Amino acid sequence: MSTPHSAPWVRICAVDDIPPLGARRVARPHGMDVALFRTADDRIFALLDRCPHKGGPLSEGMVFDHRVACPLHNWTIGLVDGQAAAPDEGCTPVFDVRVIDGEVWLRADQLAHHALDLDRPRAGPCSRAAAPAATLRANHGSPTCPPSQPVVTP
Ligand code: FES
Repeated sequence: MSTPHSAPWVRICAVDDIPPLGARRVARPHGMDVALFRTADDRIFALLDRCPHKGGPLSEGMVFDHRVACPLHNWTIGLVDGQAAAPDEGCTPVFDVRVIDGEVWLRADQLAHHALDLDRPRAGPCSRAAAPAATLRANHGSPTCPPSQPVVTP
C-alpha cells in the first residue's frame, strides 16, 4: 500500500494502536524488527529494535520525554537520532516516519533495505564445539547511524 502522493510509504497502523509512552514492533521480511514509539505528546518515532549496547529490545523499554530506556541495562537512547546518552556511546538506526490523519507510515525502501546487517545477539552459554568461533558475533560497538531523520507530524 502507498499514499496517493508518495509511492514508497507503507501504512503500518493507527497512532492509537500504539499505547501512549509505549511501543509496537513492526516485523520485516528481512532484518530485525522496527520499533515504533509513541511519546506523551503523541509524536511517533521509529528505531531498529536493537539497543546499541548489547542488542536489547528497545520496544520493551520505558519511553520518557523523547527517549527510551533499554530494558536490559538502562542505557538511554534518543528517539530523534538514535544516539545513546552520554557517557554511553553508540547509536541505533533511525527510520523515517510520517503520521497522516492519525495513521503511521514508514518508507518501503527502508523497511526492505535499512540496517539489515544488524541482528539480535544470542544469549546463553555456548561452547566452541557447538558454536565455532567464526560464527560468534561481537555484540559491542556502534552501528553506523543513517543520515536520515524521522519526519513526524503530530
Ligand atoms: S543492551 Fe541495552 S543497555 Fe545493555
